[in-house]
Amino acid sequence: MGWERPLRPPALAAAPHVWRADLDGLATDVALLDDAERARAARFAFETDRRRFIAERGFQRRLLAAYLDRPAAELAIAPDRYGKPRLAPAGIAFNGSESGGTALIAVARTGEIGVDLEALRPERADLRIARRYFHPEEVRKLESLPLEQQPAAFFAVWTRKEALVKAVGLGLRIPLASFVVGVLPEEAPGPLRYEADWPGTRDWRLVPLPLEPSHLGTLAVAGTLPDPRLFEWAANDA
Ligand SMILES: CC(C)(COP(=O)(O)OP(=O)(O)OC[C@H]1O[C@@H](n2cnc3c(N)ncnc32)[C@H](O)[C@@H]1OP(=O)(O)O)[C@@H](O)C(=O)NCCC(=O)NCCS
Repeated sequence: MGWERPLRPPALAAAPHVWRADLDGLATDVALLDDAERARAARFAFETDRRRFIAERGFQRRLLAAYLDRPAAELAIAPDRYGKPRLAPAGIAFNGSESGGTALIAVARTGEIGVDLEALRPERADLRIARRYFHPEEVRKLESLPLEQQPAAFFAVWTRKEALVKAVGLGLRIPLASFVVGVLPEEAPGPLRYEADWPGTRDWRLVPLPLEPSHLGTLAVAGTLPDPRLFEWAANDA
């Protein structure tokens, strides 16, 4: 899996698409945003966060508009009752994640999709967080790793779990310890096991995304889907 740089989004077939953008390299176009997005942009305390939010929403709108062949500013995107953003009328499935100025947007023709991205900040890879949220088996495996490998493994586990609960759409209403993901470098990403039967439990597939070493990212899709295609987004795209 490598990152391609097409001029326009290729047609969506069975394979989901994942797009990556460097938000600080994108133009900010407030005119593309709807009232709720503008109100949220106005609430950021820091200018960098406001800028990145506007850039991320512009990226999302331009990307989805290119797939749907509709004007970006006219797309109706709103969170459902659990917070998962949806298009109305539904056209394609999508989910996004942002961390440290990088954004990912995953797109699928149908079904549910989830993506999570985290900047690798070793000081936040805290075993106390792991013990509180992860499955005991995951914690044991994390603790068995050499210290220098633990931060990347922590964020790999975190993004695997977040991507899955975002695909289901319930977010952190799903206890992160209710399913087990791969932790060790030699293990499959999982999910290895489900220990509770929440709505939407099914045959999910987690796909680690090949990112720069400063970030960890995972895609969650239905188990039957092929590997995703990966694309870079740039300011002049679509
Ligand atoms: C909101 C949540 C779904 C993901 O949050 P996150 O990982 O911090 O941030 P991400 O950028 O990956 O995802 C946020 C995006 O997910 C989407 N989202 C929100 N609720 C969602 C849901 N129920 N299902 C799917 N996607 C959802 C939105 O697009 C949201 O973007 P927005 O805030 O700009 O509207 C939720 O799981 C959460 O709050 N997680 C806690 C994160 C945390 O504590 N991380 C610590 C890491 S050590």
